[in-house]
Amino acid sequence: MEKIKVAIIGATGAVGQVFMWMLSDHPWFDVEYITASAARIGQRYGSSVHWVIPFEIPEKIKPLEIKGYDLDAMKDAGVQIVFSAMPADVAKTAEPELRDHGFYVFSNAGAMRYEKNVPIMIPEANFSSLDMIKDQGYPESGFVVTNANCSTTGLAIALAPLKKHGIKEISVSTYQSVSGAGYPGLSSFDITDNVIPFIGGEEEKMEAEIRKILEITPEVYAYCVRVPVMFGHLESVWLTFEDEVEVEDIIRDWDEFVIEESGLPSSPVKPVVFDADNTFPQPKYAFWGTPKGMVVYTGRLKKKNNKIGFTLMVNNVVKGAAGGSIQNAEAFVKLYGLK
Ligand SMILES: NC(=O)c1ccc[n+]([C@@H]2O[C@H](COP(=O)([O-])OP(=O)(O)OC[C@H]3O[C@@H](n4cnc5c(N)ncnc54)[C@H](OP(=O)(O)O)[C@@H]3O)[C@@H](O)[C@H]2O)c1
Repeated sequence: MEKIKVAIIGATGAVGQVFMWMLSDHPWFDVEYITASAARIGQRYGSSVHWVIPFEIPEKIKPLEIKGYDLDAMKDAGVQIVFSAMPADVAKTAEPELRDHGFYVFSNAGAMRYEKNVPIMIPEANFSSLDMIKDQGYPESGFVVTNANCSTTGLAIALAPLKKHGIKEISVSTYQSVSGAGYPGLSSFDITDNVIPFIGGEEEKMEAEIRKILEITPEVYAYCVRVPVMFGHLESVWLTFEDEVEVEDIIRDWDEFVIEESGLPSSPVKPVVFDADNTFPQPKYAFWGTPKGMVVYTGRLKKKNNKIGFTLMVNNVVKGAAGGSIQNAEAFVKLYGLK
């Protein structure tokens, strides 16, 4: 089978590197075109990138040439799917332009997440939101499908099987890793031996996105905090439900949340894995699971008065970013048969 040619825009950043790592041996997609900022044009990926992913850089991607952002050149190269890992301000003009030129864009940037007809898609939580691409003009035109902010992704997956109990209120505090700020991100002066109790825009994103993804209208109270950890966002969550819910119900809901036959190469069979051990989960398990980094881990489950509390850990650069986009593109190909 001939593979589908894809481009990665912003291939040298924290998220772009995960795209390169995950797509280097993907069964359906072939990386045909990569870009970064203008200073890198013409350079070979392996010698240009400052590789931060905790696995060896795949040999196959080292010789790829970093090219300019040129829509005609991308078309001539046969690219159909574009993975976007650009800064949001660049994405704001580039992503609608890519769509208007007929590309199928799967984006990590926040720029278009709140537009009507643009889904914030997480296959485990809202597969049917992919239908919105028709409202954007597909198949006559291209489209943009976004994935959620990285902290919201972990929360949405953990809550997807609990939604049936009627979620009235969500209080969430995050402990977010430094890779969430991209590379080079924060100054080591600011984050070493420290915790920063504010991440600009993050709390508002969580509050808005969880409602759009799960199509629920709870009160959401979020605090987002940066901690000196490399990968993996931890979150502590308190929920109030309309129904009377016990911890045993939550454990059963997560346990029965199994997607055996998704047919998507990057989807985990069990999207949420719970462990009752008091020390679980931790960011050091960020790359656990199959596929690596795609499982959301939960623990510390308890009930107090009418509230259910738990902690979760999501890999922000894999499931919360590049891996989520790849899964979305796989879902599109499976449903609409581009392959
Ligand atoms: N990091 C996360 O955990 C995470 C999670 C979810 C979503 N996101 C979103 O994903 C996007 C990428 O995040 P990131 O963490 O990978 O950021 P990053 O490390 O700063 O990477 C940004 C990428 O965009 C390129 N770039 C910068 N300016 C550009 C320009 N004017 N034109 C074209 N390319 C340009 C950079 O190239 P150079 O290397 O040459 O500068 C780099 O490849 C952002 O929108 C972010 O909000 C990030």
